[in-house]
Amino acid sequence: MPELLEIIHSTRAMRRLKPDPIPDDLVRRVIEAGLAAPNPSNQQRWRFLVVRDAEAKRQIQRYYARAFEEGVRDHYLASPPPPGVTQEQYLRQLKAVTYLTDHFHEAPVWVVACLQDGESPGRGAGASIYPAVQNMLLAARALGLGATLTTRHLRYGAEVDAILGLPPDAHSYAIVPLGYPMGRFGPTRRAPLSEVVFDDRWGRSTSLAPASDQPIGASH
Ligand SMILES: Cc1cc2nc3c(=O)[nH]c(=O)nc-3n(C[C@H](O)[C@H](O)[C@H](O)COP(=O)(O)O)c2cc1C
Repeated sequence: MPELLEIIHSTRAMRRLKPDPIPDDLVRRVIEAGLAAPNPSNQQRWRFLVVRDAEAKRQIQRYYARAFEEGVRDHYLASPPPPGVTQEQYLRQLKAVTYLTDHFHEAPVWVVACLQDGESPGRGAGASIYPAVQNMLLAARALGLGATLTTRHLRYGAEVDAILGLPPDAHSYAIVPLGYPMGRFGPTRRAPLSEVVFDDRWGRSTSLAPASDQPIGASH
């Protein structure tokens, strides 16, 4: 198994997945990694739905695709590439995002991360569930499974939560499609460290920047 930092730097959004089934043992280990995450007072108000039901996935994919048509695609087309990413890489990202939109329901398993957060959750609620989601992404990578953190369904959150039978005091926060990847892992591409890290005060250059401060992941 690759070492932890190698896993972290190569855990990118794996949007092209094979529809082949994946063993329950791997799904269990991914979720166990999620359950190890920090959470407020260790209350563990999270719940995880393992969704294999083709009809439910298809219904939710329609909302996911609708949200893409209603704004996500135009946003991609109108935005410059993000920091550390070339125009060419950004167009490849849009292709992969489009692929996942069309094939979302074909991933053999989704893990839907939910939180029992009450009927009107506050602004910080996501902090109680996203550490678990990140742990699951890293575990999936370590086990050779592809995964993506997705939240686009939240544009139709009430409809999706109803399809999945959530009670009124619980909400879904992420859908993580899991499957064997078609492509290779990593590297993630990010802005150079000096652009986002300051020493002591906002805007002050950091002494941590390496001499050849390049976009992270650029050399791969
Ligand atoms: C809060 C959040 C929501 C996201 N939602 C989606 C999504 O709905 N669909 C998708 O394809 N990717 C989604 N992503 C993945 C990001 O697009 C991805 O992490 C980013 O482009 C960087 O790419 P990389 O992780 O492959 O390096 C989401 C990521 C985060 C953190």
